[in-house]
This record gives sequence, structure tokens and C-alpha cells, in this order.
Amino acid sequence: MSLPRISARVTLQAPALVSDRGESYTCEVASLSATGALLVGGPRFDLDRELFVELQVAEGEVVFLRAHVVRHQHFGEGRYGVGVAFQALTPEIEGQLTRVVTEAYKQLGARVLGQVRGELQRRGVTDIAAVADELQRIKEDQARAHLFAADLFTEGGSDAVAQIVSGTTGEARECVVWSLNLYLGLNREQRVIDRAREALSRFGTGAGTSPPSGGLSRLHHQIERRVAEMTGKEKALVFSTGYSANLGALSALPGPKDLVLLDREAHASMIDGVRLSGRKWIAFKHNDVADLESKLERYAPHHENVFVAVESAYSMSGDLAPLREIAALKDRHRFYLYVDEAHTFGFYGEQGRGYCHEQGVSDRVDFIMSTFSKATASMGGFVAAEERFCTLLQASATAYIFQACLTPPDAATILASLDEIREHPEHARSLHEHNAYMREALAREGFDLGTSSSPVIPVYVPDLEKLYRLCAQIYMEGVFTVPVVYPAVGPNEGRLRFIVNAHHTREQIDRTVATLARNARALELI
Ligand SMILES: Cc1ncc(COP(=O)(O)O)c(C=O)c1O
Repeated sequence: MSLPRISARVTLQAPALVSDRGESYTCEVASLSATGALLVGGPRFDLDRELFVELQVAEGEVVFLRAHVVRHQHFGEGRYGVGVAFQALTPEIEGQLTRVVTEAYKQLGARVLGQVRGELQRRGVTDIAAVADELQRIKEDQARAHLFAADLFTEGGSDAVAQIVSGTTGEARECVVWSLNLYLGLNREQRVIDRAREALSRFGTGAGTSPPSGGLSRLHHQIERRVAEMTGKEKALVFSTGYSANLGALSALPGPKDLVLLDREAHASMIDGVRLSGRKWIAFKHNDVADLESKLERYAPHHENVFVAVESAYSMSGDLAPLREIAALKDRHRFYLYVDEAHTFGFYGEQGRGYCHEQGVSDRVDFIMSTFSKATASMGGFVAAEERFCTLLQASATAYIFQACLTPPDAATILASLDEIREHPEHARSLHEHNAYMREALAREGFDLGTSSSPVIPVYVPDLEKLYRLCAQIYMEGVFTVPVVYPAVGPNEGRLRFIVNAHHTREQIDRTVATLARNARALELI
């Protein structure tokens, strides 16, 4: 018997009533589509068992259905779910169910959590408790539909495949995972894990304090040396996260007479850093060298130090920066160039030295920043630069001065990962091969991948209702990624993001593309 396409989850007005030989049980409807449902909290009915299901889909609107059990789902703590397929549906009932599901997704799609506070403010609702209540209600609806990503966790960590568990419903589902930035799959590399374990035995657990208070160990020192050598800079400083590396550097570098020019799609940590500096900043059009140059012409003469901050590959759009052209602007304008290599360090350039290295512009980039949470499968971040600028950051970046250092196993993971990157180019090779293979397959199906080319593959779905629906549907079929909406992208924009990993297999890529294409076609997206 084939599994039904349980393709949507809705919040129903009332629980379903399930009858079995005259006895009735009240169940939660964890998900609902026009052809079936997932009913949770009743007995573990046998497979193929016929049931009569009564669904109250809205106030005063009840739908009676015959169904049979097609699968079991364990929800933990003695709770079971049964997947049921509806039988002998009349066109009228099918239409009714479709309408309910569509309406529910419209409501979810219409309320992007990150935009709600602004919307309420515009309507004059500023009472913090009222705002929080509204957010809570929307979050619960989205969590029940498995669309509030922070409600989901992996049962035993992740590789290319993981058990994804819903914190709200307890439902667990094995999925191919596409939302993590563990590009090289080094989080599951035995040599890396062994080194982290050794460091734990030798160095203990926490670092206890920040760098100026004695929190650094030999491991941190080694990372700084290795990173400086890889990036071709005099010195590198290790921060406790990539976020705080950007926050620390970009809040500390600009002074009162200075200006920061930021790419419009720059990561939130860069924007927060510049905002924290309190200095003047202007966004230029994404990857638009002409716009950057016109802003340099217009504003640079009125400022003492000018900083241009970009990413090498953009985390949400997956496109690479025109680094050579940007660096060439230095021939005509005076500025410091700051490049965030979060999505290229470790797998672009010879021996993973990064995209600045690959493009031959490292010497013209004054600050190379990256994170250790992605290719190197740990935590932390770095800023590499001339030693005197690193000293300036040590003296003034509060995220460096007042934040505890990385733990020893995190630091050892970074060192082991850097060794892997240098000695095993096959990790990066398979990442790039998978990326090319998946892009080609998605393009063949007619998906819009924008201008992306890095292992971050965005699939643009501008209609948020359909975006949420597509995301929930592929999740039901074992493909996990998250809807990317505001504030990660602009207001009312949406996309799904597929981040390729060296550990994904061709079979997983084929299955993902087929699942995505079938569901996207049903929603008339391709
Ligand atoms: C471009 C970019 N910079 C910085 C960061 C922050 O790094 P981390 O999450 O390791 O703190 C990220 C993470 O998503 C990123 O994508």
C-alpha cells in the first residue's frame, strides 16, 4: 500500500473524533491534506484498519470521512500517531479539505514572525505583552506545521541524514538534511572526533574566561598561527563565534570621521557590528561594483577612513562576490577592504585557503574574516590582518575582550579540521561535485536558482503561502530544509535553501530533487 500524500498541517478548531467499533477516541490532528491525516494520541490501530473520522475543520463545519491506517509514527513517551488515508472521497469533500488546508497555509504565509512586531507597531500595538501574545500564537501555529525551525531538533546530531524531532508534537522523522552549513561533513569525521576527545582529556572542558584574562591555551595559539598562514596575513585573532568576530571587528574599526560601505545582503552580524560602532554606514546594491564605485566617489572624500565590507559568497543567495573588481577599485579609491569568508573558507582556493586566495586578491584584502562553525565543523571565528590592526582589535573589540574563549574540544576540532582540509582535498572535491550535480538537476526541473553558484543553492518561491506548503510537504516526504523569510531576506521575500554537504550522496540528491519537483509542480511553481 502506498503512503498517502499527507501534505499539509493545519491548526484545527477542535480535535478529531476517531471511531473504532463503536468506541471513540479523541486525537490531535498533527497534519492534514486533502487525501489523509496524521492523528496523534489515540491507540496504535493496526495497519489497514478501517476508521471513521470526524473532523471539525471550522466553527460549525464538520467533515465525516472513512479512512484506513497506512502507517505508524512513534511520538515518544508512549504517544503514537497513525497516518490515515481517506477513502471514497467525494469531489465536494476533497474540495472542502483542500480549501481548509489552503486557508491555513495562507494564514501562516501571511504572518512572517520577524515582520509581526513591525506590523503591530504600525497599527499602534506596542504593549510588550500584547506583542508577545501575538507572536506566541503565530509561533505555535507554525510549530504545529513544522515551520518554526527553532522548534525542531535532531535526535542524535546530524550527518547528511538525521532524525528531525518536533519539540511541539514530539514527532520524529528521518530526513535528508539541507539546512546545515557543515560543508565538508567533518563533524562526522573520525580523525576529527578523536582529536576533540583527546583535547578534552588533556585540556579539560571550558576555557574559563576571555583572552585578556588568561583564557587562551596552546590550542588557540596554534589556530591563530595556522589561519594567519592560510590567509597569508601577519596575524589572526580567534573569536568565540563568527557572529562575534564580525560584531567585534566592525564595531571597533570605524572611528568618528569614518564611513562603512556594506553590501546590501551583508550578514546580520556585519550590520550589527557597524550599528554598534555608532558610525556612519551606507548600503550599496548587492554585488554591484558600479554602485559601490559611485558611492565611493560621492562619500569617500568626506571621510577619513573608509571601509568596504562584503562576503565572498552570500549566505542566503549563494552567489560569489566580484572580488577582483571590488579589489581593483583600490586603484582609484582609498579604502580598507573587509571580506567575510564564512561560506568559502576551507573549500575554495588551494588547500581551502579561501576565495580571496582563489581570486588572487588576498594581498588587497585588508581584513579576512571567517567562521569555524561551517567547513571546520566547530564554533568560533577569526579576523586575519596586519598585526597592528589585530592589536587594535585586541585593544578595542569588546566581543574579544569580554567573551570567554573557545572550549578546548572546539579548538581541537578546528585544528583537526584544518589538517583534514590540507591533507584530504577529496572532501572539498566531492562538495563541489555534488553542488554542480544538484544545480544541474534543479535547473533541469525548471527551478529558479537566481545567480547562485556556491554550495548554497536557493530555490526562489516568492509566494509565501506556497513556500510554507512546499516546505511542509517535502518534510513529510523526508526532505528537510527551512523556509528562508524576513529578516534573513527582505520583507515578503521567500526561498528554500539547499546547502550541499560532501557527505550527501547522489541518491539523496536525486530523491530530493524528485520530491521537490513533484510537489512544486502540484503547487504550479514550475
Ligand atoms: C556570512 C556569515 N558571517 C558570519 C556568520 C556567523 O557565524 P557563526 O554562526 O559561526 O557565529 C554567518 C553564520 O551564519 C554567516 O553566514
